[in-house]
Amino acid sequence: MSERWIPLDAKDCDPSPFVQFHAWFHDASEVMRDREAIALVTASSDAKPSARMVLLRHVDATSFGWYSNYESRKGVELEQNPYAALLWYCEGLGRQIRIEGSVEHMSAEESDEYFSARPRGHQLGAHASHQSAFLESRQYLETAMHDEELRYEGRDVPRPPYWGGFRLTPNFFEFWQHREDRLHDRVFYRLVGSTWVRERHAP
Ligand SMILES: Cc1cc2nc3c(=O)[nH]c(=O)nc-3n(C[C@H](O)[C@H](O)[C@H](O)COP(=O)(O)O)c2cc1C
Repeated sequence: MSERWIPLDAKDCDPSPFVQFHAWFHDASEVMRDREAIALVTASSDAKPSARMVLLRHVDATSFGWYSNYESRKGVELEQNPYAALLWYCEGLGRQIRIEGSVEHMSAEESDEYFSARPRGHQLGAHASHQSAFLESRQYLETAMHDEELRYEGRDVPRPPYWGGFRLTPNFFEFWQHREDRLHDRVFYRLVGSTWVRERHAP
């Protein structure tokens, strides 16, 4: 019997979901052009969800990080309801990862460090574009960009106070592996106290 997908069993998964994530994220570099792209789901205070893609810029031993505008729709929703879900899919390996947890802003220092390393055009764009706000026309945005170019001509572009990093600290992971006949493998990690409990769930 042959099967092109790599079977996944809870006992073979690393005790740390972060190590498991790293292993899958690493494998994906062979088959994905943009493996940092991840769906971020937030919900408003009245429990209405919204989803969009962001770029996963940090993964460390306890959290996941991305950057955005704190006054955008996602920024406002995270202010009202600081919980989110991340969803990642790798078609080439038939793998999906779900991550859920609480979200906070990164420190000003961390956001400054990232912002200062961005291309100048991205920095100016963060000033020119009030992300998620109504825009009369494309021309309005281009004029705003031009104004920012003039404003900061010959000097460094500071990070706008409304732009910075978000950090999600997970309490749940799911690693999903495609298998034949829809008998997929699903391994959940739940945080119980300070221990990650691994368990298989039905596909
Ligand atoms: C592949 C991809 C990556 C993206 N990465 C980011 C990102 O890192 N940060 C960001 O603010 N928006 C990013 N965007 C744009 C968002 O999807 C979204 O349009 C924007 O953040 C506004 O969302 P909101 O109005 O729900 O806040 C990305 C879009 C795509 C398609």
